[in-house]
Amino acid sequence: MKRAQRKLEHIKYALELGDGPRSTHFEDIRFLHNCLPEINPADIVLSVEVFGKQLRLPFLIDAITGGTDSVTDVNAKLSQAAAKLGIAMAVGSQYGAVRDGKGYASYEVVRKHNPDGVIIANISALATPAQACEAVKMLNADALEVHLNPAQELFMGEGDKDFKGLMDNLLRIRDGVEVPVIVKETGCGIATEEYARLKAQGFTHFNCAGAGGTNFPAIEASRYGKELAGDFAGWGLPTVWTLLDSAVTCNEGDFLIASGGIRNASDIAKAFALGADVVGMAGNVLRLVHEGGVEAVTTYFETLAEQLTRYLLLLGAKTPKDLRNVPVIYSGETANYIANRGYDLAALSKNRR
Ligand SMILES: Cc1cc2nc3c(=O)[nH]c(=O)nc-3n(C[C@H](O)[C@H](O)[C@H](O)COP(=O)(O)O)c2cc1C
Repeated sequence: MKRAQRKLEHIKYALELGDGPRSTHFEDIRFLHNCLPEINPADIVLSVEVFGKQLRLPFLIDAITGGTDSVTDVNAKLSQAAAKLGIAMAVGSQYGAVRDGKGYASYEVVRKHNPDGVIIANISALATPAQACEAVKMLNADALEVHLNPAQELFMGEGDKDFKGLMDNLLRIRDGVEVPVIVKETGCGIATEEYARLKAQGFTHFNCAGAGGTNFPAIEASRYGKELAGDFAGWGLPTVWTLLDSAVTCNEGDFLIASGGIRNASDIAKAFALGADVVGMAGNVLRLVHEGGVEAVTTYFETLAEQLTRYLLLLGAKTPKDLRNVPVIYSGETANYIANRGYDLAALSKNRR
């Protein structure tokens, strides 16, 4: 299967399949009303500093595509929207491009439309340090996402099934590039055990990309005319659970992108409450740009920002980060999850990270 064809099929099936079937479990979290918020809307600050640059809004258009001329227009539009909004953008995997020396224009267009913005390169954990450096150079990128996607590879006919040596290679990549390396999943989440292993090796930047949104194992199966059944149909750690795992493992100084099926201001407020520094979205943004271009993407994010401000106001939080200290209540399977994992429910209800 040619790489260009695969990139187009990912877009086609992401649009066709949509989110799920797994829930993100944001519905298991409730905020408590604060009747004395003591906040003036004028004091609310959504802007955050990321990689030495200021984002106007704390959002990321996460990795979607690149690598073939037929997706240059999608990346151009996403980049124009990101520049207009003052949000960050990551490109789709550049692994094939740097390996084959082809398809650079579809990525370079992202920096062209957003010369001063936060742009994140993206590469496979199988890349060599030289390939990772080339991916960063292609975009003059501010950071590099290295994606972990074993479940996707497993159901991709042409996927890499040998997962041995990934940590060693992650370390080689991190030591070989000059920008921060963000360890990223692609929709199955990162569990405490792996956060802990990564942190023990000195990694401090993560993109949890939990389950409940874009379902890559299902996309890969669809490319071969198959449908996943049983455990594999909804494989992965729901976004709320991977966020809880990061909350009990990560420290104040770590950097966390929350992503995976985050679709509205309620999800966003809860993701910040669970410790996010920035919130990322991919599948829904792809649909918006596909159906309504730059305008639809910008309107969507501006609306989310307005609605997020209402949450901050009603919860007495001046910044999204302050939401980490507002009380929340856990119910349903998420309360069970917290009990099963032996986490302190009362402590996680008061503050996270
Ligand atoms: C069409 C498509 C292609 C993607 N390609 C990549 C990729 O190349 N590298 C990567 O790290 N993630 C990739 N992703 C995963 C997203 O960056 C994100 O982690 C995942 O979709 C979960 O977010 P969502 O539920 O908001 O879509 C892709 C997502 C979509 C929809």
